[in-house]
Amino acid sequence: MATLAVGIDVGSSSVKAVALKRSGAGYSLKSVGHADIRRTEYFPDESPQAIAEAPLRALEKITQDSNFGRKPCSFAVSGPRVAPRLFKFPSLPKTEVEAAIRFEAEQIIPFDLAQAALDYVLFDEVMEEGKPQMEGLVVAVHKEEVDKRFVLLKSAGFDPVVLDIDALAIANAFVETEGVGEKETVALINIGAKFTNLSICHGPRRVFVRDIASGGDQLSRAISEIYGMDLPMAEKRKREAAYTPLDELEGGGEQGFESQAETMPGGGMGGAGETAGGEGGEEEYVLLDGDETAMMRKDEAKPGKGAKAGDTMTGDEEGGFDQSAQTQNQMGAAQRISANRAVLADALGDLVSEIQDTFKYYINRRIVPKVDKVKLCGGTAKFPDIDDFFAGQLGVPTQLWNPFARIDVAGVAKRFPPNFLDELGPLMAVACGLAMREISG
Ligand SMILES: Nc1ncnc2c1ncn2[C@@H]1O[C@H](COP(=O)(O)OP(=O)(O)OP(=O)(O)O)[C@@H](O)[C@H]1O
Ligand SMILES: [Mg+2]
Repeated sequence: MATLAVGIDVGSSSVKAVALKRSGAGYSLKSVGHADIRRTEYFPDESPQAIAEAPLRALEKITQDSNFGRKPCSFAVSGPRVAPRLFKFPSLPKTEVEAAIRFEAEQIIPFDLAQAALDYVLFDEVMEEGKPQMEGLVVAVHKEEVDKRFVLLKSAGFDPVVLDIDALAIANAFVETEGVGEKETVALINIGAKFTNLSICHGPRRVFVRDIASGGDQLSRAISEIYGMDLPMAEKRKREAAYTPLDELEGGGEQGFESQAETMPGGGMGGAGETAGGEGGEEEYVLLDGDETAMMRKDEAKPGKGAKAGDTMTGDEEGGFDQSAQTQNQMGAAQRISANRAVLADALGDLVSEIQDTFKYYINRRIVPKVDKVKLCGGTAKFPDIDDFFAGQLGVPTQLWNPFARIDVAGVAKRFPPNFLDELGPLMAVACGLAMREISG
């Protein structure tokens, strides 16, 4: 009988794991894990050996959960050594399809196929000038990339059996949970630390993907430059920006940050690598490493600091209504939005242009009629106002996407503070898609 693999997403900044089980027509969450990878840019005092071993250490934390370690898992790769390409040719008998796709791949894949793992998906047949055409996506992944990931997962005690790419895993998670209408086009943008995975789903069975080398690291660098603070501090401040607006740093530099930091509430999410108790080892969670602020709930922030930048607040702290306070708050909110926008434009302007060019390419070639909506996920999608920024730049309605919104998380959620899984969800899209992959056994 087919069972579901555990989904393990090894990113450049964190490791994410999800175990799902089928429940009715959908899925329920069995386990979830997240651990940061300590990188040298953000942890300059770590020894080179500790930095080299950081991905393994993060994975080992995840294996503390009995639902993850030594289980068959699916994993994914992304970045420049992953080459997805569209192909189309006149329909052929089944026995000839594979050779034809290999031939196509040789023409369009930018590295030697002898060193690549190759896979493909076939879309529904299309008619062109009265003749049936086969259309699909072929993906070549450099073997070194696969081997590196495989060895890492094995040494951490996982049993990697299914290979995917990040952008296809995200599309899988979206189609399986939210669904895509037959004539609808949805662009999924997973903004991580180093990479952004773009998946354009046209109907439920056609997907076009690409990776762009840009993400949250750019945002941290922009904050570091604009506000004159070192990179580790800028990274920390970026993750807190929903609770203490960026514009309050202006002119303050590092000192400004420290005074803000004092206003932040304490961690409250437990220490590094702690494992929350799970009954019978069924539903457990590996807590975050050194990233408490990123997962802090909005209602934990101090009054006046908790609102998402851009929210319009009415009334004073005592609850009375005051027109001038309202006006001031509105002005403050507008200022915060412009501070966030300035950073976003500086850091992610090139990323937006790449995405715009990709949309234009597919529309001009009549591969999709238009993009109806954009869904953002990945850690960087949590930055305040990023949805409005993308909506404005791309001219397409844009929202944050939390894959847990359509997965039954009740059994696991009770182990965490309210909203915790909502905060974590946008980071888990790749892992959710991987956790929906079937394995025989
Ligand atoms: N609350 C937050 N606000 C802004 N950025 C955040 C927040 N939380 C995490 N991030 C950023 O999200 C990024 C990590 O996201 P994610 O875990 O999706 O990336 P990754 O999968 O490790 O990286 P990649 O896929 O690029 O290799 C980091 O740049 C981190 O600083
Ligand atoms: Mg990622």
